[in-house]
Amino acid sequence: MDLIIKHGTIITPSDTFIADIGIKDGKIVIIGDDVESEGAEIVDATGKYILPGALDVHTHLEMPFGGTVSADGYFSGTRAAACGGVTTVFDYVLQRKGQGIIEAVEARRKLCEGEACVDYAFHCAITDMTPEIHEEIAASVAYGVASFKVFMVYKKEGLMVDDAVFAQLLERSKETGALINVHAENPDLIDFRAAKFLKEGKTSAWYHYLSRPEFVEAEADKRAIHWAKSFNAPLYIVHLANKEGMEEVTRAKAEGYEIYAETCPQYLNFTSDVYKREDGRNFVCSPPIKGQESQDALWDALKRGDIDTIATDHCPFQSTEKDWGKDDFTKIPNGCMGIENLYPYMLSEANKGRITFNKVVEVCSSNPAKIFGCSPEKGSLTIGSDADIVIYDPNKNVTISKDNMHSDVDYTIWEGVELHGYPVMTYSRGRLVYKDGEFLGQVGWGKFVKRRGRKGFVG
Ligand code: URP
Ligand code: ZN
Ligand code: ZN
Repeated sequence: MDLIIKHGTIITPSDTFIADIGIKDGKIVIIGDDVESEGAEIVDATGKYILPGALDVHTHLEMPFGGTVSADGYFSGTRAAACGGVTTVFDYVLQRKGQGIIEAVEARRKLCEGEACVDYAFHCAITDMTPEIHEEIAASVAYGVASFKVFMVYKKEGLMVDDAVFAQLLERSKETGALINVHAENPDLIDFRAAKFLKEGKTSAWYHYLSRPEFVEAEADKRAIHWAKSFNAPLYIVHLANKEGMEEVTRAKAEGYEIYAETCPQYLNFTSDVYKREDGRNFVCSPPIKGQESQDALWDALKRGDIDTIATDHCPFQSTEKDWGKDDFTKIPNGCMGIENLYPYMLSEANKGRITFNKVVEVCSSNPAKIFGCSPEKGSLTIGSDADIVIYDPNKNVTISKDNMHSDVDYTIWEGVELHGYPVMTYSRGRLVYKDGEFLGQVGWGKFVKRRGRKGFVG
């Protein structure tokens, strides 16, 4: 064996127990008591928790958006990921007009290879539906990109698809084993309300929230779920942030439909009050962060099992770019950071007793891997799985600051947030990539994760 992590408390979605973990050639080869192997490096994890690395299944690295390009590239974004215990990043590829799916994905793979320092996979956002794209969905699933996003918004940006395209993709997903992901907000209501506020001279970040409040997202969630139910197709709702939409997910699940809900740490930690702050524009993302009632509903849903995954929607912009919208909220590039905060924040909430550590592992690691077709290689501490492992010290306290983060952005919305407990080591396929606040990984270490379509779904 190459490495033995000894005496740690292993946390899986269903169990918590003390054991040793042996690693060879980047894989977990044994879990048990008194594991020994001559020449293996020994890490004493007494008093620490051993977790599977998180999968951040929603990122936008180096993405052209909002008149610029998101501020973390594949190196800095995955460096930050490693330092926050994320060992697999799922990035969104945007298919542009006339572009094939695999063509778009391969262009992104080229950017990623030689840059990423943890493993990576892709979803593809379909923005130009043609008969060729309809056909290519099957080839893309076979290629290892098995999930496709539809935007119900971003009409002016050329990303939105109409309900007919959405429905067509839902039908196609059933034939091919693909999963459709949806960004649900109502675009016409947003445009109507934003124009009205601007005309009235209401230009601050607060009006970003008011132009797309709870009911604007809820209507689209309900419409999306309605189409998924009508076609009896599975559906994954990304970055769900409102109470009414959450209730609709709960209802659909109870009726037996395969509807998945993802929320993000920013929706669990902040409320819409942030948009009243002087730096409110830094929190501008879509859907916007909602009010306290919605936040409470998200926590309740998480506890009862109706939220399946937590991912970040990491899409940061520099403060000078956010400043473009100082006097007009519609000019603020949409997106926030979180790739380094996801696991530490959720684990800290567990450490405070709000949810269990097992639940955090379930929604940040094992469920994302299962839903997106890469379990048990990823998201699992089992024999044969990749040794993507986080060692967590429940007694190490960290106050988040831009200066102790590892992204390329010049601020963080998480500034000053105090975390109780923190990851102290991250292993990516058995290689130490982070220790005690320091990035130790290697540029280009990350590998493409070829995923299986839903026919290979391990439930
Ligand atoms: O504001 C956000 N979320 N920006 C990234 C693109 C998206 O909508 O996911
Ligand atoms: Zn989105
Ligand atoms: Zn997103």
